[in-house]
Amino acid sequence: MNLKQEKIKKICCIGAGFVGGPTMAVIASNCPDIEVHVVDISKERIEKWNSKDLSKLPVYEKGLDEILRKTRGINLFFSTDIDLAIEQSQMIFISVNTPVKKTGIGAGQMSDLRYVEACTRRISEKAKGHTIVVEKSTLPVRTAHTIKSILSSKNSLNNKKDKTFSVLSNPEFLAEGTAINDLQNPDRVLIGGEDINSMMVLENLYLNWVPANKIIRTNLWSSELSKLASNAFLAQRISSINSISAFCEVTGADVGEVSKAIGKDHRIGSRFLKSGPGFGGSCFKKDILNLVYLCNYFGLKEVGDYWQEVININDWQQDRIYKIIVDKLFGNISCKQIAIFGFSFKSGTNDTRESPSISISKKLLSEGAFLKIHDPKVKTSQIVNDLAGYNFVENYINHDQSKNQGSWTFSSDIFTASKDVDAIVVLTEWDEYKNINWEKISINLRKPSWVFDTRGILDSSSVKKNGLNLWKLGDGNLIK
Ligand code: NAD
Ligand code: UGA
Repeated sequence: MNLKQEKIKKICCIGAGFVGGPTMAVIASNCPDIEVHVVDISKERIEKWNSKDLSKLPVYEKGLDEILRKTRGINLFFSTDIDLAIEQSQMIFISVNTPVKKTGIGAGQMSDLRYVEACTRRISEKAKGHTIVVEKSTLPVRTAHTIKSILSSKNSLNNKKDKTFSVLSNPEFLAEGTAINDLQNPDRVLIGGEDINSMMVLENLYLNWVPANKIIRTNLWSSELSKLASNAFLAQRISSINSISAFCEVTGADVGEVSKAIGKDHRIGSRFLKSGPGFGGSCFKKDILNLVYLCNYFGLKEVGDYWQEVININDWQQDRIYKIIVDKLFGNISCKQIAIFGFSFKSGTNDTRESPSISISKKLLSEGAFLKIHDPKVKTSQIVNDLAGYNFVENYINHDQSKNQGSWTFSSDIFTASKDVDAIVVLTEWDEYKNINWEKISINLRKPSWVFDTRGILDSSSVKKNGLNLWKLGDGNLIK
């Protein structure tokens, strides 16, 4: 069978998450002749994807609702009927979660592949004819070998002799908050594989909207490793500039100016050089941990140590920000009210996974502070999960925080959030915080009061003009 000639009519994606949902929506909108099924074991998630009210989608991404309006129910379908989708699809994307293992061998570092293995076994059992299986999840190098072993096992094949599989690696590089644009205009599409016919089938699918010169073909292992290495390189740049931010603070340099000067060198480039409270998000840390584990597994301890340091600097950056806040507030924040501006790990998303706001808030709470948290997109229920173990106070007006140390409340607007606080800590770079009316807000704070700008986004002169003390990350001018 020459698959190059075969026209793909039906594809499915197992895993309707941050990647599966938007990726398949973009494929459906660019390939109207292909029927796209997105399936998941979570009934609740699928119901949200099928919700008539598009504000209830499980993922908030700019432009996603518009695409769904044009594709859902036409050539894009969300369901929990995984077996049927597998049976009917010529190409199956695996886009399930690959978290860090919590227990056992490699705990805290290695990827937990139980979800990948579960759907591979299901594909092995239910697929019909020739099926192209595409790794979309981020996986340890050589996972394709495991997938192939399961798919070719006698157990699954003995009933249906005409069943064949081809495994490809096609990692996803979208960033949250810009997912639709990243999918629509990718820097590159990576297709790793051994079977050129299957690689061409996937390439032809992308060619519906991606220019040919952006599609890169590699062997399986290069493709799997390139995904881990890409995330490691991006995170490394952030740790590099964050290490320099601390250096600026003690020398009189300004990290914004240094970053601009470095980035003007085309060999370095200007992106991913913004210092801040450290990288968050579901993947950078987990993927580097996975890389470190693999380095050690293959006997490359020095290489593993090198990448581990990227994580160490990230943790250190969050720790030092917390210590600076405590230090500026006279070394004591017990029973003091502090406003946290921003809880998502970056602007443009409601995702809080590995958000620096979580670790910094927990450290402040452990000192007995009362936090008034604001975020334009994150829901209170999410923060309750993230700050589990610390007391959530729904109605803080009559709340006596002197009796209840280490507690927090949610404020739906920044004016309420800043009422009577000793400090405002800006942790996410939401536009709303860039244009704060400091004249209005400053009246709210208990004096002397501090503003901690960990993203370097505030109008410094306006903050200071209104009688507030300012600490800005990486700003050595403050030592003068
Ligand atoms: P997610 O947790 O948002 O979604 C994964 C989905 O898979 C969940 O809905 C879960 O219910 C489902 N699932 C798990 N096991 C299943 C099974 N056996 N059958 C059917 N469904 C199952 O995860 P995500 O953020 O979409 O990430 C998926 C993968 O993509 C990960 O490997 C991640 O590293 C990678 N990735 C994520 C991003 C990102 O921005 N989030 C970007 C690039 C790559
Ligand atoms: C990142 C990568 O950018 C994607 O290419 C990749 O597909 C994805 O991880 C993944 O594999 O999950 P994402 O985590 O969604 O995407 O968001 P980024 O824009 O990369 O930001 C990550 C973190 O770094 C955020 O906390 C952000 O605030 C921080 N960051 C980013 C900085 O502190 N400085 C910068 O200059 C850039």
